[in-house]
Amino acid sequence: NASARKPPLKILLCSPRGFCAGVVRAIDAVERALAKFGPPVYVRHEIVHNRYVVESLKAKGAIFVEELEEIPETSAPVIFSAHGVAKSVSAQATARHLLAIDATCPLVTKVHREAEIHWRRGRRVLLVGHSGHPEVVGTMGQLPEGAVVLVESVEDIERLQLEDESNLAYVTQTTLSLDDSQEIVTALMQRFPKIVGPHKEDICYATTNRQAAVKQVAPHVDAVIVVGSPNSSNSQRLREVAERAGAPAQLVQSRGEIDWAIFGSIASLGITAGASAPEVLVEEIMDAFAERYEIAVEMVSTADESVSFPLPKELRAIA
Ligand code: F3S
Repeated sequence: NASARKPPLKILLCSPRGFCAGVVRAIDAVERALAKFGPPVYVRHEIVHNRYVVESLKAKGAIFVEELEEIPETSAPVIFSAHGVAKSVSAQATARHLLAIDATCPLVTKVHREAEIHWRRGRRVLLVGHSGHPEVVGTMGQLPEGAVVLVESVEDIERLQLEDESNLAYVTQTTLSLDDSQEIVTALMQRFPKIVGPHKEDICYATTNRQAAVKQVAPHVDAVIVVGSPNSSNSQRLREVAERAGAPAQLVQSRGEIDWAIFGSIASLGITAGASAPEVLVEEIMDAFAERYEIAVEMVSTADESVSFPLPKELRAIA
């Protein structure tokens, strides 16, 4: 009996994990657009940061581009990814008469509007986020060039030199580490006591809940797997949270990436998934462990989620 020789492995499965409401909506938008308009449907940037999702949509007729210039003269729609776009991108789509469908997560759009309101009220806007991430590029691009100052760390705040420190506001990226952002926001308030901001930060419910679950699980396991892609900000943060809570953690996109040097001789394992990672990948990874171990799975649930967002208006009724 081969299974009798497998060592036992306790798996603590984090809940919530995986898809958030913004990701579900963005993927649905591409699928509905394919059904409504027929292929091809253009998508600007990876609709969500997950290779598996992107490859599956490609197979159904989606064409992914980084910039609108890559799209030929066409009546096919172009969908903006969940991360959001700068205003110049929407303007460019209008100028080129492209049928643009905006799949920006409504929780990112909310941050865009906050930034705009601060600006209209004459406030200088600081954005707490990671340089180069498309959400950060999109949020900075809501206001004229140079209007938003990016802050990535407490050191950045110490180094900041602003002409007028009396009228400041801040917004944040939605997928930051809660612990890091609390530190950064505290530093902002210490240096600029009158700075105006959101109630806490703009980190979304999905980021908050996934970090809370992995933080609860990590101290009780020998190692953690975060299912997600390396360019997924919220997945990277989950890995950091797990490691800070004391568990070696690896970000894994598919079962082939599991580092058995770490995961080959453990007695307990935590599993979570980033907001853009489909559950089928979690299952595939659990199967890989089941081949080597006698697994016993226990769910650790720290929150219930019931958030959902309506599709972009162009797609609400199938013609
Ligand atoms: Fe939106 Fe948060 Fe998901 S901002 S796309 S709900 S990770």
